[in-house]
Amino acid sequence: MDIAGLEREALDALEKTKDIAALDAWHATYLGRKSRLNVFMRSIGELPLAEKKTVAPAAQATKRLLEEAYARREKYIAGSNEAAAFDVTMPAIRPVYGRLHPLTLVERSIRTIFSSMNFSVVEGPELETEKYNFDSLNIPKNHPARDMQDTLWVSTDKGTLMRTHTSPMQVRHMEKHLPPFQIIVPGRVFRNEATDASHEINFYQFEGLMVGEGISLANLKGVITGFCERFFERAVDVRFRPSYFPFTEPSVEIDIRMENGKWLEVMGGGMVHPAVLEGVGYDPAKISGFAFGGGLDRFAMIKYGITDIRLFYGADLRFNNQF
Ligand code: DAH
Repeated sequence: MDIAGLEREALDALEKTKDIAALDAWHATYLGRKSRLNVFMRSIGELPLAEKKTVAPAAQATKRLLEEAYARREKYIAGSNEAAAFDVTMPAIRPVYGRLHPLTLVERSIRTIFSSMNFSVVEGPELETEKYNFDSLNIPKNHPARDMQDTLWVSTDKGTLMRTHTSPMQVRHMEKHLPPFQIIVPGRVFRNEATDASHEINFYQFEGLMVGEGISLANLKGVITGFCERFFERAVDVRFRPSYFPFTEPSVEIDIRMENGKWLEVMGGGMVHPAVLEGVGYDPAKISGFAFGGGLDRFAMIKYGITDIRLFYGADLRFNNQF
C-alpha cells in the first residue's frame, strides 16, 4: 500500500472541494469506514511484525494529517460562505456600549455654552507654582489656604504644588494676551482635605475671565445668568452677595435660585483686582475685567440631583451607567 501516494491524492482532491456536499463526499472516500486507508489499517494486524512496526505509525500519521486538513477545509468553506453558515435563529449577543462620565458631560456642556458666547476654552497645568497659584493672585504669604493642611505641596523648596484652583490660569493667560478677550478654563484641582459628601481631595472647577475696556459687574451677571439658563434649561435668577477674595475687588458670592425657591451658592467672582492687572502689565485705569470660578462637580450635582460628591470618583458602574 502506497500510503504517501494516497496522502498526496487525498490532499489534491481536498483542495478541489468547493462546498459542504463535495467535502462530505471527500470524507467518505478518504476517511470513511470503507475508505482505502481505513480498510488498510484494519488489515495491518495480519502483517508480519517487522512490517507492522513501520507501516502502522505511517498510516496513523497520514490519518491524523488528513483529519486536520479536513477540519481546516471545513472552516474555510464555512467562512467563504458566511450567509449559509450564519444561523439567524441564534440569540444575539448584546453589544456593551461605553458611556460618558457625568463630569465629562457637564464639562462638555460648559465648553459648548461658553463657546457659543464667544469665550475661548483654555487649559492650564495641574502642577503649578506658588507664584501663579498664590503670589500673582494677590494671595498674602500668610493666607491660610497656603497652609500644609489645604495645599498639596510637591516641593516646598521649589514652590511647586498641585493647583488648588483654576484661577492661576487667569494670570498665565493675561501674561500672554492683550485685551479684549474672554476665556473659560475647565480643569482639575486638588486640596489636602478630609473627604465628606461635599468635599473631595480632587475635584473640578471652571474659571471665567473677561477683560477689556468698560467691563463691569453687570456683564458678569449677564454672562452667569445666560450660562445658567442654558445649562439648567430653565429661567434662573442670579444673586450677588458681597464677599472677599484677594484677587477680586469688589468680590461676590454668586447664588442661583433653586426650583424650590431657595438660594444656593454656586460660584465666587468679582472684578479683577487692580494689583493683579498691574502684575501682568495692564493699566487698571483703562482696562477692567471680571472673573469667576465655579465647582464643576457642584453644577453636576445640582443638575442630576446627586447628594454625595464622592460618587463621581467611586468608579461604580451602577452610578456611572445612569447618565
Ligand atoms: N478660586 C476661588 C476658589 O477656588 C474661586 C473664585 C473666586 C474664582 C472668585 C474667581 C473669583 O475667579 O473671581 O475658591
